[in-house]
Amino acid sequence: MTTEIKGVILAGGLGTRLKPLTDITNKHLLPVYDRPMIFHPLEKMAEAGIKEVMLVTGGNNAGDFLRLLGDGRQFGIRRLQYTYQKGEGGIAQALGLAEEFAEGQKILVFLGDNIILDPIKPFADSFRQQAKGGMVLLKALDDPRSYGVPVFKGSRIFRIDEKPAKPASTYAVIGAYFYDPNVFKIIKTLKPSKRGELEITDVNNAYIRKGQMQYGVLNKHWADAGESLESWFAANLLMRDLSKK
Ligand code: G1P
Repeated sequence: MTTEIKGVILAGGLGTRLKPLTDITNKHLLPVYDRPMIFHPLEKMAEAGIKEVMLVTGGNNAGDFLRLLGDGRQFGIRRLQYTYQKGEGGIAQALGLAEEFAEGQKILVFLGDNIILDPIKPFADSFRQQAKGGMVLLKALDDPRSYGVPVFKGSRIFRIDEKPAKPASTYAVIGAYFYDPNVFKIIKTLKPSKRGELEITDVNNAYIRKGQMQYGVLNKHWADAGESLESWFAANLLMRDLSKK
């Protein structure tokens, strides 16, 4: 397998947790302090050395992404492609739309509302060397109940629980996932969850069951700017504070 990694940014959804802000635009076009939210994952793709990116969007404001981002060259992306997810089939279904784009290469998937301050390149380089499987990134939190939470057996991840009432660890699985091309076969085997969506956590658990999931741990700030109005607002304050340092 080549060491090339392609990028997929998922920026669809109705953003209902950020209503009424999202009545007028796509969640990922909202500002986070001085820049639109979607700039963050694009800049991270470029930092990881990724040259080809597909953005998957949906909903009513899809055309605005093209107006804002154009061909992606301002971010150092050589080819920025776009596709459209109809309906609300979930993160894993949105990712499935990138199968032809991936052309059998490894991929890095970002959820478009995640803001990562750790350098991503070391993780990307480690995944370039990984023979097969996937890699998730973890962040220690006081309360990870709104996220995917890893259950450990020794130092390995044994399972990921999605939004557990009683988290088995203090880590959240953040919205940055590295996968080998098998991910598209796995997506085709998934069944909708209780919320009627194909879950990215089910994709990750399939890799874990095969013993093919690695993980990395973030040390710096991480913000999920789309989790709630509170978390969006906190992300704005964080980015303002950091810009003054
Ligand atoms: C999704 C994933 C969850 C992950 C989170 C990170 O949650 O399902 O496992 O921890 O992104 O942002 P959602 O944003 O769909 O609630």
